[in-house]
Amino acid sequence: MNEQLILIENLMKPNQINAAKESNGPLQNLDEWEDDVLNRYPDPSVINQDKKEEKFRNYEETVKDGVKEFYRLNHQYQTFDFVVQKKADYLRFDKKEMPIWNAFDFLNELVDDSDPDIDLDQMQHLLQTSEAIRNDGHPDWMVLVGLIHDMGKVLCLFGEPQWAVVGDTFPVGCAYSDKIVYPEFFKDNPDFNNKTYQSKLGVYTENCGLDNVHMSWGHDEYVYHMMKDYIPEPGLYMLRYHSFYSQHRENAYTHLMNEKDHDMFKWVKLFNPYDLYSKNPNQKSWEELKPYYQELVAKYLPVTLKF
Ligand SMILES: [Fe+2]
Ligand SMILES: [Fe+2]
Repeated sequence: MNEQLILIENLMKPNQINAAKESNGPLQNLDEWEDDVLNRYPDPSVINQDKKEEKFRNYEETVKDGVKEFYRLNHQYQTFDFVVQKKADYLRFDKKEMPIWNAFDFLNELVDDSDPDIDLDQMQHLLQTSEAIRNDGHPDWMVLVGLIHDMGKVLCLFGEPQWAVVGDTFPVGCAYSDKIVYPEFFKDNPDFNNKTYQSKLGVYTENCGLDNVHMSWGHDEYVYHMMKDYIPEPGLYMLRYHSFYSQHRENAYTHLMNEKDHDMFKWVKLFNPYDLYSKNPNQKSWEELKPYYQELVAKYLPVTLKF
């Protein structure tokens, strides 16, 4: 039995894995959400302005049913209480301890169980992001952020449904912005009927700082806490807010941000194009890149990480 299977076995029995995969959610794989983000925010360098407009107009028509259903579930179930409860559970980091490489192995396994050709995609996405950052001469900790930014998707390993792992993140406990994708789906969220939660500032105060704001639960918040002690602050912001599109693309929650957040969001904005637009057909192989990344990981991270 290979290392990867042992790893998965330790956490879930095979029949549980299959059950989790089947009932997991409407997306065929986790990448489908990111592909959809790309439809909303197309690469400005590869499309002309007219086409970009057209794409925006057609967004609602072209979105896949599975993706729409995914957002419906995400918006319905990401309540304030749900977020607080998930943080209390996962941020204890008492589930598992393993080398980062085991987590990557699992991510590759996770992406798509129906197509064996696609199962390198998750690692490919991470490497394409990190290599694009490296090629542009950014600091090595940012290259590391590229490599690990989606590692929180291992939440699926613990049986979390897709809507609690991926998707645009947004503040909970205050009014939903109509700049969040499919804002109409929030009407089915129990928090929608809570007057306090639906006021502009909700349970927060003006410019209180995002560190005091609960974001919807998913892979961003999880990996941020995992890396808190190891990576410079701008990198931590990139990890924590990379899916917060309604702010880093739409500026919808400026009223909750303090000066430091504004400063740090320059880094979040710098990171986003590497996440979305770094697909590279001539990507070097993992075998070739391995020595560099092993050294980089060893420089910043402990031998094993707590999950
Ligand atoms: Fe991500
Ligand atoms: Fe990503």
